[in-house]
Amino acid sequence: MSKWKDEIEGVPPHPESLMMSYGYKPEWSEGAAKTPIFQTSTFVFRSAEEGRAFFEMAQGKRQPGPGEMPGLIYSRLNNPDLEIAEDRLALWDGAEDCALFNSGMAAIATTLLAYLRPGDVVAVSHPLYGGTHHLTDWLLPQFGIRPVPFRSDCPEAELEARLAAAGGPLGFVLIETPANPTNDLIDMACCARFAARHSTPGRRVLLAVDNTFLGPLFQHPLEHGADLVLYSATKYIGGHSDLIAGAVLGATALVEPIRSFRTMLGTQTDPWTGWLLMRSLETLKVRMERQAETAGVVANYLAGHPRVTRVNYLGHLIEGTPQYDLYRRQCLGPGAMISFEVEGGVEGAYRLLNSLQLIHLAVSLGSTESLAEHPATMTHSEATEEENAATGVTPGLVRLSVGLEHPDDLILDLEQALAKVQP
Ligand SMILES: Cc1ncc(COP(=O)(O)O)c(C=O)c1O
Repeated sequence: MSKWKDEIEGVPPHPESLMMSYGYKPEWSEGAAKTPIFQTSTFVFRSAEEGRAFFEMAQGKRQPGPGEMPGLIYSRLNNPDLEIAEDRLALWDGAEDCALFNSGMAAIATTLLAYLRPGDVVAVSHPLYGGTHHLTDWLLPQFGIRPVPFRSDCPEAELEARLAAAGGPLGFVLIETPANPTNDLIDMACCARFAARHSTPGRRVLLAVDNTFLGPLFQHPLEHGADLVLYSATKYIGGHSDLIAGAVLGATALVEPIRSFRTMLGTQTDPWTGWLLMRSLETLKVRMERQAETAGVVANYLAGHPRVTRVNYLGHLIEGTPQYDLYRRQCLGPGAMISFEVEGGVEGAYRLLNSLQLIHLAVSLGSTESLAEHPATMTHSEATEEENAATGVTPGLVRLSVGLEHPDDLILDLEQALAKVQP
């Protein structure tokens, strides 16, 4: 099956059924069942006229004529492994378009640079992954772009007041929901209304959602008012801790300006990573479902442990609370990310982390192996102590990304490590 034959007896297959075939025909490559790795920097034109035509179409100087197709030029612009992986990834979010990058940070930075201009304000939810926090709080201000941070419990009126105090036009809204590492949920519909209120006939303010924690299986932001979806594809999409990549998804008209920046900044990913992502997408659903199932068992265990004072897990939200209502509206499952606070602050957390035998002590998440880290001094050490205290990134907080190990073994490992939290 190819990209152009996407129905069986008139019925569109599920995304997981298309991950092994969509966008590629074996007859293109000597019958190879798997897409070959097009490890090439440049593509040979059949004639100079063809080369000129490809450039004209790539630069948007003209649309393809009847029977004409834009062709491959150079791997900074495009490459078959990138394009097929993009087509496949877009299916999960029901997106019209997708652009892959050489990291999640490259996807986020290229997107923000494509849409923000000096003098603009960018509204950003907190807590936020440390790299994104550094970008919005330290790098963008050097280009005259100022961040207005807000938390999940920030009322719309207060957000408006903060924007007014910042004194610049709103240029973009960027949210991370669920937030890394606390699983705080941000109201996408509310943020979409906020962006729309500040859009003008000459400029639409976009809402982008970093969907790294739950997507692309358990949350589809484009269905909840987001214009763009961002991913660190290093996490669940790659899923094996063996690549670094990122993605942005949305309508072609909105992704195209970002792709243009990608070409000029050179933030695209390479053919080998595109190929690895295709390999990973074939097992995305089984991996994420199994990891989520195991995370539920582990979260229940942690919630009952006397040394654990708090568990941030979406499956434990309490009915009737605003966060629970948001979860029911926006999410399709609790995912496999847990953070939990242990007794004894940073010493307690370090004792636990240093005692783990099966779970790796490492940053990153969404991989086949379980990973644990200390946000306050690692992934979220960009934020000040006060900022971290305000967003619940406390000294005793440990982040756990649940992998594919047997839940009994994970619990055994946590049990022996938690026993060492207090001497
Ligand atoms: C939520 C989130 N967004 C973005 C990133 C950045 O992704 P990458 O490390 O692929 O650049 C990370 C990395 O941990 C993340 O956790």
